[in-house]
Parts: sequence; C-alpha cells; structure tokens
Amino acid sequence: MSNTTPLLDVSGLTKHFPVKGGFPIRRTVGAVQAVDGLDFQVNEGEALGLVGESGCGKSTTGRLITRLMEPTAGSISYRGQDITHASRRALAPIRSEIQMIFQDPYASLNPRQTVGKIISGPMEINGITPEGGREKRVRELLEIVGLNPEHYNRFPHEFSGGQRQRIGVARALALEPKLIVADEPVSALDVSIQAQVVNLLQKVQQELGIAFVFIAHDLAVVRHFSQRVAVMYLGKIVEIADRDDLYENPRHPYTRALLSAVPEATVDDTPTRERIRLTGDVPSPLNPPSGCRFRTRCWKATEKCATEAPPLVQVEGNKPGHLTACHHPETEGTVPAPRLSKDPETAV
Ligand SMILES: Nc1ncnc2c1ncn2[C@@H]1O[C@H](COP(=O)(O)OP(=O)(O)OP(=O)(O)O)[C@@H](O)[C@H]1O
Ligand code: SF4
Ligand SMILES: [Mg+2]
Repeated sequence: MSNTTPLLDVSGLTKHFPVKGGFPIRRTVGAVQAVDGLDFQVNEGEALGLVGESGCGKSTTGRLITRLMEPTAGSISYRGQDITHASRRALAPIRSEIQMIFQDPYASLNPRQTVGKIISGPMEINGITPEGGREKRVRELLEIVGLNPEHYNRFPHEFSGGQRQRIGVARALALEPKLIVADEPVSALDVSIQAQVVNLLQKVQQELGIAFVFIAHDLAVVRHFSQRVAVMYLGKIVEIADRDDLYENPRHPYTRALLSAVPEATVDDTPTRERIRLTGDVPSPLNPPSGCRFRTRCWKATEKCATEAPPLVQVEGNKPGHLTACHHPETEGTVPAPRLSKDPETAV
C-alpha cells in the first residue's frame, strides 16, 4: 500500500434516523440527524481520538465505520476499497480486520460462555484456525492482555470490570485486526483502573501497529492515547488536528470550552486555565440550529453564524492538517469567554 492511501477514508458520512408519526398511516415526519457529513481519515497504525458530548453521534460513527449500520449518505473506503454498501459476502474478508470494543464490559460478553469460547468466537465465525490451534492462540491473547492463561475455562462473572474489558480487548485482537474502534472503552470502569486499560490499549496500538478510533466524552482520556483528535458537536466534526496542535492551539470555541474542563491540559505552566461556562442545552439533532450548530451556545455567534454553516477548513494560522469549522476562530488572547468561577461541575 502506498503511503498516501489512508487505512480508512470517510467522506460525507451521514446517518439520519427517520422519525415516524401520524395516524392511521405512520409516515416519516422528521429525521434525527445523528451524523451529518463527516470527513476524516485514519492512517495505518494511527490512533484517532473522537470526542464530544453525549448524543453528538460518536457511537453512530463507530457503528457506521465498522459497518454495523448502513449510512444514509457518504462513503467509507478501507485500504482504498469502497465498502460503503458492500454486501456481507464482499465484507467477509474485511470484517476480521476491523473490530470494535464496546463501552460496557458486562453487557458485551456472553455470561454463559467461557472466556476461551468468547475469545475464540471470532476465529470460529470466520473459520480461522491459527497455527497450533485456537486454544493456544486464546492463551497467547490472554497473556497479551495481562490475564492468566490458565483462566481459559472461567466465566465472565468471575472477573472484575477491568478484567472483563481485557477479555473484550483479547477478543478484538483474535483476528489480528488492522483497525479497532473502541467506543468509550473505559468510561464504565472504576476511575482507578481506567488508566490500566488505556495503557493496555496503547501498548496494543504501539506494539502491534493497530490503528484505533478511540471514542471518548472528554479530551483528558484521549490526550495520551491519540496522535490526532477530532471534536464532534451535534453530528459534525468541528475541529480536527494533530494532538499537540489541538491542545495547544484550539481554534474552535467548542474545543476551547472542552479543553478548559481538562485540568492537566495547560501546556504553558499557567496553572489557572479557567473553565468556560457553556450555557443552554445541546439542541436536538431532530431540529439542529441553522448555520453553525454550535451558535446557540457560542459566545461569539454573529448573524453569519446563523445563516452560513462554517466549512471544516484550514483557517488562517492553522498548521497543515489542522481543520476548524468556525467563522470567527479563536486566536491567542481574543474574546473574553464566559468564565466559570464557582460550581465547576456544571461546566461543559
Ligand atoms: N437507532 C436509533 N434510532 C433513532 N435515533 C438514534 C438511534 N441511535 C442513536 N440515535 C440518536 O442519534 C444521536 C446520536 O447518538 P449516539 O449514540 O451516536 O451519540 P453518542 O455521541 O455516542 O452519545 P453517548 O456519549 O451518550 O454515547 C442521539 O440523538 C441519539 O438519540
Ligand atoms: S461559527 Fe460562529 S457560532 Fe459557530 S463556533 Fe464559530 S463563532 Fe461560534
Ligand atoms: Mg455513545
């Protein structure tokens, strides 16, 4: 593969869920615009963080790129091959290369199956028997994820939440994938063990050269994990950049607000990056605001923001590859954002 072909290339990716209503004939009366025109690439071996508030379309994006869901519009290419509407048969060889790790390590493992059965499941489904047999491979995988290979015959309930997520990681690794979509893989876990699982995923990414789309609510979790980060708001990517560019030079007001909620995000030794108060709720994806979708909560919104949707482009001052969708991008020291002094829990 040439270096210029990304592993995954997503263009105009859209998912609208129809909303039915009316009596006696139920008709489509509207659509939840869960994902609305995403463009991004993931390179081989790269970790891309995908961040945004609840309901902004992260899981839907994950399900679309793993082809668990059909897109409404747009295209998905994997290693240069258009898989947007590929049939089950056409997808079969690719399915093993793209895996998903889910948020809930309790719900995503079958309680009636042994760990050995769970982890060897993908091999069985795809009719793959590795050299030395499936059991040997499962034992290797258990070791890779830091579990005792002797626990092959145990059941999920005999493991803690963190250990169960390790089982989920082992299952995702079973077919030597090229891309793993990890949908909030640590947010259901105890804070004290989140770092261990993130470290395991990072080890897997680096040592096995697997590309990741790592979905998370906040920028703190993806910071150490991702080479690049995309910020989503109401079904759109509002900013995407190399990790350091994004954290050091956020140009979108929403990115800045999210970053202000990350205590360790300060890069210039200024201990007091004050939190920005975002007022109002996230609007409904059934009826998103015209123009810029963030405008109802943006302290810089102008008339133009209400009428023209800002394109995701390299705005002036951005490094190559740093794209921002904003008519009035942030610059160092501009615009007094609404500060938050008390009551930090309600911010962002
Ligand atoms: N099957 C579905 N039918 C109708 N609407 C849906 C469906 N799945 C998701 N949605 C809606 O699409 C929007 C995006 O949902 P999604 O689960 O992708 O968000 P998310 O960013 O993963 O949120 P969270 O952080 O809470 O997991 C939400 O408004 C959600 O209610
Ligand atoms: S386009 Fe306008 S409303 Fe949207 S983020 Fe930029 S300034 Fe705010
Ligand atoms: Mg989700």
